[in-house]
Amino acid sequence: MDLLGTLRGILAPGDLITGEACEPYLTDHRRLYRGRALAVALPRSVEEVSRVVVACNTARVGVVPHGGNTSYCGGATPDESGAQLVLALARLNRIRSVDPENYSLIAEAGCVLARVQEAAETAGRHFPLSLGSQGSCQIGGNLSTNAGGVHVLRYGMMRDLVLGLEVVLADGRVLPGLTALRKDNTGYDIRGLFLGAEGTLGVITAASLKLFPQLKSAATAFVAVPSPAAAVTLLARLREASGDLVSSFELIPRIAVELTTRHIPGVSDPLEAAHPWYVLCELGSARAAEPLEALLTEALGAALEAGLIEDAVVARSERERAALWKIRETIPESQRHEGPGLKHDISVPVSALPQFVARGAEWVAAHVPGARLIAYGHVGDGNLHFNLQARPAEGAALLARGEEVRRALHDLAAALGGSFSAEHGIGRLKVAELERYAPATELALMHAVKRALDPNGIMNPGKVLRSG
Ligand code: MLT
Ligand code: ZN
Repeated sequence: MDLLGTLRGILAPGDLITGEACEPYLTDHRRLYRGRALAVALPRSVEEVSRVVVACNTARVGVVPHGGNTSYCGGATPDESGAQLVLALARLNRIRSVDPENYSLIAEAGCVLARVQEAAETAGRHFPLSLGSQGSCQIGGNLSTNAGGVHVLRYGMMRDLVLGLEVVLADGRVLPGLTALRKDNTGYDIRGLFLGAEGTLGVITAASLKLFPQLKSAATAFVAVPSPAAAVTLLARLREASGDLVSSFELIPRIAVELTTRHIPGVSDPLEAAHPWYVLCELGSARAAEPLEALLTEALGAALEAGLIEDAVVARSERERAALWKIRETIPESQRHEGPGLKHDISVPVSALPQFVARGAEWVAAHVPGARLIAYGHVGDGNLHFNLQARPAEGAALLARGEEVRRALHDLAAALGGSFSAEHGIGRLKVAELERYAPATELALMHAVKRALDPNGIMNPGKVLRSG
């Protein structure tokens, strides 16, 4: 029997899509890639995933795991051959269990992140991963890309939020690792291999995740600062002053306030005058009685006197808080309204961030004078989206220089001890970057692991590592 016939025998009617109906699975979120596929499989159980993978392994057909399709690097898009199978996890979407006393839950890979957050809140707990795409991205994708977001400085990245994984291996075996243990020193960290592997070593089908106490109080401020250096100093002071209760600390440049107020209905500049840089910062606590607003106001007052900040507004209601967050969260969307741009996802040690911004901005001004720099992001993690935006009618010219710009900025990050991919992963987009920047020994180990776990090279071929 041919592969499609075998797959039809495994999956329920309607769970194998072919032809035009495959369309939504063939283009990535940023529209960088447009692939073709043999079919799209939508299994409903781990057993079905396993049988589908076995069939593909036998037929030597590539399997492309697909979650909420929010990857910035084309990690979930099939290649142009039309020979790969897209394996969509959307129907494997149960919360299997919640254990409030163990502060953990087990979710299947196709659960949308927002649903996992809701399941935790319903049980009186908190799941802290928080991303702009949380209404559509799926846990399997979050795990496979080791997603970050706006709470990393307090809770860590996805890798830090996992207790155990269930994974279907390339030969169809199921790795039964859904432990709820916080301590388990029993040999190699096999589970860790699949986090950030983008489906190239196996298909994550479920995860045991860490929960935290619910946040009962928060204080949010939009703060004008003279420079990224001032932002870094302010973060260090706020961490001390609050007893490490800072849960978000996001850098926003003036141009992002201009773009969001121009393009996003309901966004307005919360401060009277224009300032070169801003920080959106939030303190959060599990104690309802914590006087966070007073604490934040006092710390900002001291910073103002010290000349560290230029102005600030503290949200007085949930509505005001949401309005401040909307500025930050709609930066990527406002950029899309302005036309084509170049995105980067660099990280450096937090203390080196001001230097990266200064040297990066200098390079951009000297070499790409037509472009507007939109450098924003997660200061607390040393992670910036150092994006370039074309002026109208200059989009194609900027895109044509993408390679050169990427090289300069990634070289600069590397020179400062940083990374070219902080939280967006490698996918297809950054395979050459990984080859350039990963130490040769590490790259060789990655290939060895790939060969050991996926000898036929069927798992998401060409992503993370070059195939063949
Ligand atoms: C963000 O932090 O907003 C995203 O990770 C990056 C982006 O959308 O450019
Ligand atoms: Zn980000």
